[in-house]
Amino acid sequence: MSTIDFSIGFIGGGNMAAAIVRGLVAAGVAPRQISVTDPQPAARERIHAIGDGIAAGTDNATVAASADVLVLAVKPQALADVCATLAPARKPGQLVVSIAAGVRLASLAAWLGADTPLVRAMPNQPALVGAGITALVAPASVTPADRARAAAVLEAAGPVVWLDDESLMDAVTAVSGSGPAYFYLLTELLAAAGQAVGLPPALAATLARQTAFGAGRTLAETDQEAAALRAAVTSPGGTTAAALAEFERAGLAAIVTRAVTAARDRGVELGRPAGH
Ligand SMILES: NC(=O)c1ccc[n+]([C@@H]2O[C@H](COP(=O)([O-])OP(=O)(O)OC[C@H]3O[C@@H](n4cnc5c(N)ncnc54)[C@H](OP(=O)(O)O)[C@@H]3O)[C@@H](O)[C@H]2O)c1
Repeated sequence: MSTIDFSIGFIGGGNMAAAIVRGLVAAGVAPRQISVTDPQPAARERIHAIGDGIAAGTDNATVAASADVLVLAVKPQALADVCATLAPARKPGQLVVSIAAGVRLASLAAWLGADTPLVRAMPNQPALVGAGITALVAPASVTPADRARAAAVLEAAGPVVWLDDESLMDAVTAVSGSGPAYFYLLTELLAAAGQAVGLPPALAATLARQTAFGAGRTLAETDQEAAALRAAVTSPGGTTAAALAEFERAGLAAIVTRAVTAARDRGVELGRPAGH
């Protein structure tokens, strides 16, 4: 039995919407509580396959008129047009949750109406396997009940954290939104380095991949900090210490700070309204 006792409509039934819908159904939300729209037949098929009874169609206005919570899950560049068609159709008082990366609450309010209860969410790609993390932010006017509803929906994709200040969203995006790519890059580099020290390519790739998985799972399943886990595998004068010393000599900490700062700055730039 789920605690979600309201209906949820998704505008856009792509990868992220499918991931959240899968999590909701797994958490016990009844398929009849969920409706999704998407112009792509393949996307609708995939949604249908998650749960018999999920309505998957193309009529945005009908979903907007009936859902208690409306999740906007189209690409950011499609959102202004989508909101223009939804605004007149929306159920009064409906909570709107946008997962579109980089789209500010002020833009959503301008497109949907200033009195719309709004939550902006930033999930990340591991939501696809139920292992995401989502940051949420809402204007002060959004009620605790609506905040709890938004959190309950996004918790289908992993834990959620609330931000007090929307301006932190660009920094969050630089850490957890873009962050999976940093770990994938390190996995690629580790596999390539394995080859460089003589391993066959397939073996190097398997070792790197499973090590990334194992390290992530160890972080998730033990209550130890990353630094403590690292110390536990680093004997003084040993092999790990030799590798870590090279990272330090190369200035890895500064490189990571510069990379995250660049991602944050790019987010600020992309989110700036045209002409500012
Ligand atoms: N994937 C991630 O890791 C991730 C992480 C954080 C945030 N997000 C955000 O989540 C949102 C969705 O991302 P996604 O990866 O799920 O994208 P996606 O797979 O491309 O899904 C978007 C879907 O919406 C459909 N669509 C377009 N216009 C529509 C309309 N007017 N009405 C209904 N459906 C419409 C698209 O169809 P067409 O292909 O025909 O356009 C597509 O099937 C984006 O705003 C993104 O910024 C994604």
